[in-house]
Amino acid sequence: MLSNKTIDKFRDLSTPFYYYDLDVLNSTCQTVRKGSESAGFRVHYAVKANPNPRLLKVISSYGFGADCVSWNEIERAINAGIDPSGIVFAGVGKTDRDIEAALRADIFCFNCESIPELEVLDSIAARLNKRASVALRINPYIEAHTHKYITTGIEESKFGINTRELDDVLKRYSGLENVIIKGIHFHIGSQITRMSVFKNLCTRINELQDWFASRKVDLEIINLGGGLGIDYENPDIPARFEEYFSMVKEFVRLRPGQQIHIEPGRSLVGQCGSLISKVLFVKRGTNTLFAIIDAGMNDLIRPALYQAHHKIENLTSEGPPARYDVVGPVCESADTFGKYIELPETRRGDIIAIRSAGAYGESMASRYNLRDLPGTVLSDEI
Ligand code: LLP
Repeated sequence: MLSNKTIDKFRDLSTPFYYYDLDVLNSTCQTVRKGSESAGFRVHYAVKANPNPRLLKVISSYGFGADCVSWNEIERAINAGIDPSGIVFAGVGKTDRDIEAALRADIFCFNCESIPELEVLDSIAARLNKRASVALRINPYIEAHTHKYITTGIEESKFGINTRELDDVLKRYSGLENVIIKGIHFHIGSQITRMSVFKNLCTRINELQDWFASRKVDLEIINLGGGLGIDYENPDIPARFEEYFSMVKEFVRLRPGQQIHIEPGRSLVGQCGSLISKVLFVKRGTNTLFAIIDAGMNDLIRPALYQAHHKIENLTSEGPPARYDVVGPVCESADTFGKYIELPETRRGDIIAIRSAGAYGESMASRYNLRDLPGTVLSDEI
């Protein structure tokens, strides 16, 4: 909830900007710490959701590790106080430079996605006289029931090792001396709202555990990745962490010495952020009223790219309700945040909040149309 005091302060700030409510972030982190500690899970925050240094500092203060996809993200996480021993490095196309830097930093684990990657990791580790810990990212073939662009664990996905190839992976592994397989890793998609999807993943993990045990490969790390969705219609409601933790704990059969790892991104930071913008013009179309705001698809690309729904609020009007297409100024029809949205009567200068924008909002912003990048405002700065 954005208080009247906060809204008043927004009036003097130049828009558009991302506003992060640190109270919301802290309370989400507390819930996750409590749930993960009692379940015995280790949390690695997926930095790609939002690499803002101040947010990372807060997240790091709860003792969470980080899930990174580039050396730059790893460096950012370390600078925010996250210990390398809590950092995992994921990605289907890691560069040699990034692998080398991560090895030198002694991160916790590389989530490896192919035999060639394992070979390159082994040779770079050998050159540096290091031994790299690895979790094999396996494609579990599970339908995530989310948008197709953020579904990652089905047959046509580029991610993960094909289960039919696992025998070859172990054969090749037996000849490698500078990598050590410590676990298995999965990530089946993002914005997953059906708990049954995670339950299917747990079942698949149990089957794969049997497969590795039968080949005498000991696994310590069972990493389920991220994916827990948030309720975009209700920005003040946190993700369903308790349900998720207890379901995973109940269904994954752990063996002695094993620990569950998770990589939440959106569920940690999604609800603490809003994109704040001002109405430039209200314009009458043939059958539509357009509210043209000063934030565009370059600031928040999710609606254009994934047809994502974000709740839109007019923070400064109490007029009679009307329906608007809320659009940005960018020269693309896809630059639309919502169609036929009910808002109180909207006028030039009104402040609009696009809610639940803390994850994959600012981190995906671009300078398309040579627009400036959006600003950033934290709740303790105003
Ligand atoms: N682990 C891995 C290996 C991942 O690829 C991701 C996200 C996560 C963890 C974190 O997933 P989360 O808990 O945030 O669902 N830009 C898209 C989402 C892309 C997700 C990419 N991978 C969006 O705006 O919806």
